[in-house]
Amino acid sequence: MPFPLMFSKRVRSIELSGIRKIFDMAQGDVINLGLGEPDFQPPPRVMDAVYEGVKRGYNKYGPSKGFPELRRLIAEKYKDYGDFTKDNVLVTVGATEGFIATLLSFVDKGDEVLYPDPGFVLYKPHTMIAGGKPVAYPIYQENEFVPKQDDLLERITSKTKAIIVNYPNNPTGGVLSDEHIKMIVDIAEDNDLLIISDEVYFNLLYDSPPKTFLGKYDKLVFINSFSKEFAMTGWRLGYIIAPEEYVEQIGKIHYYTVACPQSPIEYAAIVALKETPDYINYMREKFQKRRNLMYSLLKNIKGVHPNLPKGAFYMFPKIDVENVVEVVKETVKRGVLCTPGEAFGENGKEHIRFSYAASEKNIKRGMEIFAEVMEKFT
Ligand SMILES: Cc1ncc(COP(=O)(O)O)c(C=O)c1O
Repeated sequence: MPFPLMFSKRVRSIELSGIRKIFDMAQGDVINLGLGEPDFQPPPRVMDAVYEGVKRGYNKYGPSKGFPELRRLIAEKYKDYGDFTKDNVLVTVGATEGFIATLLSFVDKGDEVLYPDPGFVLYKPHTMIAGGKPVAYPIYQENEFVPKQDDLLERITSKTKAIIVNYPNNPTGGVLSDEHIKMIVDIAEDNDLLIISDEVYFNLLYDSPPKTFLGKYDKLVFINSFSKEFAMTGWRLGYIIAPEEYVEQIGKIHYYTVACPQSPIEYAAIVALKETPDYINYMREKFQKRRNLMYSLLKNIKGVHPNLPKGAFYMFPKIDVENVVEVVKETVKRGVLCTPGEAFGENGKEHIRFSYAASEKNIKRGMEIFAEVMEKFT
């Protein structure tokens, strides 16, 4: 780097993930089991609605917190979990913007934020960008990727400000029971912590209705998104639900970073909530079949220990091989994209993440190739 001092300490302290480099090793046609998004398109009616919005003139800046109608519909969607109004809702540019705006609104220099390891890639850098100190708490396959009470308690200090939770979980597919939610809420309550709950897979559970922090704790920022539920990751629309004063404060950072959400996409999101609210059921049915298929195939591969995930669309098996990254590189070289567990934190290093947001044909072929690779390494 020719002029390292030009760049802020902030930007120099964060690194881009190395996954790209591994994916670049793939040649020709690939089987993509590395995807972090549904392999479906948004509902056709909702795709049409984007253009409809554009034609109707939704091409200008909109209200910074989102269209009141959209905020109202989002509040209504969660009416079973609490008395929310549009004033509890901030529409964001994906869950991603909701996260950074939340952390910038709550975290001061040196404040500690607990986050899961393995966990989604945003939590650590976002905490650092906000000037906070990320403190990883482990989640283990033996414990179905649910944090242990002591592992959380041991990490809480007088500087701990917030705990980030993410269920259904990426990368593990873990989900929480009501008892687990209570355990975490009790810890937060006793220690006066904010809970930031990343629930972008809110209604992607296979064996039960959603298990959510929403309505279970006052100091909560609930983060969700249209990305997964309506297969519109590229449209970048998300939202937070939180107490009104949180929405006001987080709304300031949001205003000064993005001005407002994308008007024609908000228009389409209104149509999505009104006309295709059950789209996720269609995808869930497909994902469930693919989950069962991938699980049954993985379980028969030597040296691979999957557990049956109860949510999201990922498998995160433990692998009996010293160097898991080498296994991933070889698998990718043979045309099957997957992600080394260490991309999600130190505690993920004995694992590989496979996404089953892929066709059954690709899952079958992908697992055959992976089995050949494992044969070589074990
Ligand atoms: C756990 C988790 N949180 C947040 C996001 C980002 O969501 P969005 O597209 O709404 O920014 C993802 C995307 O993969 C995710 O898996």
